[in-house]
Amino acid sequence: MKIANWSKTLKNNFLFQAVSDKLEEFKEKNPEKEVINMGIGDVSLPLASEVIRACISATNEMGKSSSFRGYSPNGGYDFLKLKIKDEYKNLGILVNTDEIFISDGAKSDMSNILDIFSSDNTCLIPDPVYPVYLDTSIMNGMKIEFANAVEQNNFLPEPDFNKKVDIIYICSPNNPTGAAYTKIQMKRWIDYANSCGAVILYDAAYESFIEDDNFCRSIFEIPESKTCAIEFKSFSKSAGFTGMRCGYSIVPKELKRENVSLNYLWTRRHSTKFNGVPYIIQRAAEASLSEAGKKECQKSIKYYKENAQILAKTFNQLSIKFFGGLNSPYLWIKCPNNMNSWEFFDYLLQNLNIIGTPGSGFGKNGENYFRFSCFASREDVQKACSKLTGSF
Ligand code: MLT
Repeated sequence: MKIANWSKTLKNNFLFQAVSDKLEEFKEKNPEKEVINMGIGDVSLPLASEVIRACISATNEMGKSSSFRGYSPNGGYDFLKLKIKDEYKNLGILVNTDEIFISDGAKSDMSNILDIFSSDNTCLIPDPVYPVYLDTSIMNGMKIEFANAVEQNNFLPEPDFNKKVDIIYICSPNNPTGAAYTKIQMKRWIDYANSCGAVILYDAAYESFIEDDNFCRSIFEIPESKTCAIEFKSFSKSAGFTGMRCGYSIVPKELKRENVSLNYLWTRRHSTKFNGVPYIIQRAAEASLSEAGKKECQKSIKYYKENAQILAKTFNQLSIKFFGGLNSPYLWIKCPNNMNSWEFFDYLLQNLNIIGTPGSGFGKNGENYFRFSCFASREDVQKACSKLTGSF
């Protein structure tokens, strides 16, 4: 019996697990200290009242034989897919319900999708980026190349038309830097992917934080993307569903490789390995897309963006260089006093009792940077700001 090859190459701990372990160790040694957690991007505001109403109503339905439901249709219920279809229609995009696959979130989707590709592919992964892409590509035995996202290119790498890759990860707005591609910039990636036959895995988890229409809200705003892209979305950040678990992927019917439809392959994979998202959760997600639900969710997003502005003001006052916070819930700062990412993490935890995420955990270009999540409560953000102000 042999265990998986990736066990020899993958780093010991998933980034957020490493941060969480450090936090637990600190709490154990310092039980009296209150820690402000601005590490993992986990929401702090409660669910919208419309969402709660939908959960209660769906729960009641499940308790009556006349309205009880068992397995969900594999790709999700039409009531939710039709709402999603409407969201795309508002952007001028036609998506059919059989191109929408409801799931338990973008994190699972972005790793599960690799099942439909041969491990004999080369993935292009931005550096820095959400570490799931690299870890799962390694788990699937893919070859890996990096696209450098650095200050000099505003953390937005451009395609290199002289190089051929097979799978391209794009996260826009980017986690962790907050940099977002405009539609014009995105078109270049689409032209590149179409020219070399690559498939773009487009993570739009932070789309609801986008400030204006120059930025790409969906890759399908650029029509040529239908032959080269799959989009992933999540209700986690747009509707506070981190604990509810719901997301979806869009795989266009036009997308084919080796004369095989990727929509067919994803349907085949989904129906074999997944039994659908609970009815109650799908009703909750539907409610978050109702007019009243959307208003409530937008209020929460505004709150997190105000947190980002409060934090940004503090870093400006301290002359600490930072990025992001406008199209994203994250502030990406240059570690002060030449500290590296983990040194700054330890400094903040030990001296100010603040948790953030070390930039190096998102890739080698993240070294000497640090990410603050603005999903914390206003009170915690304000407390963190006054602690930071007194220390630099
Ligand atoms: C993050 O902190 O990067 C995200 O919350 C993690 C996730 O979405 O899985």
